[in-house]
Amino acid sequence: MQSLMKKYLTDEVYGELKNLKTKSGYTIDMAINSGLKNPDSSIGIYAGDVESYELFKSIFDPIIQEYHGEYEAHKTALHVEGLKGGNIEDDRIVSTRIRVGRNLTDFPLGTNVSKSQRLEVENKIKDALDNLTCQGKYYSLESMSENDRAKLIKDHFLFKEGDRFLEEAGLNRDWPSGRGIYHNEDKTFLVWVNEEDQLRIISMQQGGNIKEVFTRLVLYINELEKYLEFAYSNKLGFITSCPTNLGTAMRASVHVKLPNLAKDMSKFEKICNEYHLQIRGIHGEHSKSEEGIFDISNKRRLGVSEIECVQDMVNGVNILLKEDGEY
Ligand code: ADP
Ligand code: ARG
Repeated sequence: MQSLMKKYLTDEVYGELKNLKTKSGYTIDMAINSGLKNPDSSIGIYAGDVESYELFKSIFDPIIQEYHGEYEAHKTALHVEGLKGGNIEDDRIVSTRIRVGRNLTDFPLGTNVSKSQRLEVENKIKDALDNLTCQGKYYSLESMSENDRAKLIKDHFLFKEGDRFLEEAGLNRDWPSGRGIYHNEDKTFLVWVNEEDQLRIISMQQGGNIKEVFTRLVLYINELEKYLEFAYSNKLGFITSCPTNLGTAMRASVHVKLPNLAKDMSKFEKICNEYHLQIRGIHGEHSKSEEGIFDISNKRRLGVSEIECVQDMVNGVNILLKEDGEY
């Protein structure tokens, strides 16, 4: 399959963009490097700063349209009121997780920050996290033991090292400096610092009480917003380094057992397309399913509200559970 970057980067578009540079020094060659070095990319392009989306819009706009679908404008509405069926009581749901990506205004994105800027970002985020009422702790990757790190990854709490897509996008430079994870004691609220985005704000727990997970996420995002200013545009919503995450930057997922649909992938994929869902494996993106358990999440994030992202996932997962039960 060809990446969206390759699909839309015609000679004409490349010719138009090849000599341009954003104020932070980002170029089209930097933006497309990950997609060129990883021919199995589905998207294949990253932004270096907010300005990239405007300066290189002749390539970003069609990619954004194709991934998120047609949309008028983006409007954030971060609240849980109105969510229907927010508690899926079905023991095939193993766990629920909702995350949003965020980046700070006044800094380039992670693809194009310097080492000292990344440390500055880390410090600002650490200071803000100190104020949260969930009383978590920040653990820098540099100070973490290899055992602790491996366990956090295995238990689905921490990002992995050495992702080849991020590597070629410049997002792993100076690893592990400036990276870390914050979490509360029971690991139901977590923040990843300086991975693909400067913040990945995460709420998760066992079982299918989606409303509870969503409520916790909203509470602490609102607290963080008192201390941090996140990059946002009326056209693109929250600015993220990958165009798939623009808008709400929200991915609401469940780990769910679907052993019968697992044997009927064309039907499984057809339902997911129809209900705007994405299928991932059990260890996140680019991983495989194990024992019939899949990570099912909303696909579109831009031009829809946060509640619509979560509702897409809830509606679709209910259909999948019903279909899987009918074999
Ligand atoms: P992101 O969600 O930030 O885009 P990934 O798809 O790589 O990134 O997932 C990050 C981690 O979160 C992985 O370890 C993945 O297994 C875990 N995860 C995702 N959804 C769930 C879920 N519903 N329950 C438990 N862990 C989850
Ligand atoms: N760059 C990778 C690709 O094109 C990932 C794209 C979406 N995922 C992400 N984590 N941003 O396949």
